[in-house]
Amino acid sequence: MDDKIRILLSEEEVAARVKEIAEEISRDYDGKPLHLICILKGGVFFTCELAKRINLPLTLDFMSVSSYGAGTVSSGIVKITKDLDEPIEGKDVLIVEDIIDSGNTLAYLIEVLKQRNPNSIELCTLLDKPERRVKDQVKVKYTCFTVPDQFIVGYGLDYDQIYRNLPYIGVIEQQ
Ligand code: PRP
Repeated sequence: MDDKIRILLSEEEVAARVKEIAEEISRDYDGKPLHLICILKGGVFFTCELAKRINLPLTLDFMSVSSYGAGTVSSGIVKITKDLDEPIEGKDVLIVEDIIDSGNTLAYLIEVLKQRNPNSIELCTLLDKPERRVKDQVKVKYTCFTVPDQFIVGYGLDYDQIYRNLPYIGVIEQQ
């Protein structure tokens, strides 16, 4: 726990941007029901903050996936470790993630979820690291912040499972 963490985005900056994105989502869906799908574990902090600020009839479900790969790069082989509780057929679905990196997780998930016939399916992410993208077909409708290719923690993002609970977004500095 003695890593040096530099604040990249303060708690206040994140809160202000989450509020903005929630207002944009509320306008876009214009009073219609919206079904949020939170991707565990990292997406849970952002999903809660976002959901509280969306002014729509909202329902919520959770999914957990693991991606196999060596080191920090995911392989593109994704396994569902906890599936949704509810069907999504006919629903307007918004997938909520903490970060999109290679895009492998989302590329897979979107294909799987499209086969369940939702009315629509879009993506919302707290952070996007476009420099790392290998799957160009992942189109993100709502992005709070674009970040550089650094080791980011906090607000759901972990380093070896710790730091998820930091209220800000930070970068682990090389010692
Ligand atoms: C992170 C993140 C995304 C995925 C993004 O999850 O929450 O699901 O990696 O990476 P990609 O774009 O390269 O596929 P992680 O597997 O670290 O699990 P966690 O949310 O439980 O920490």
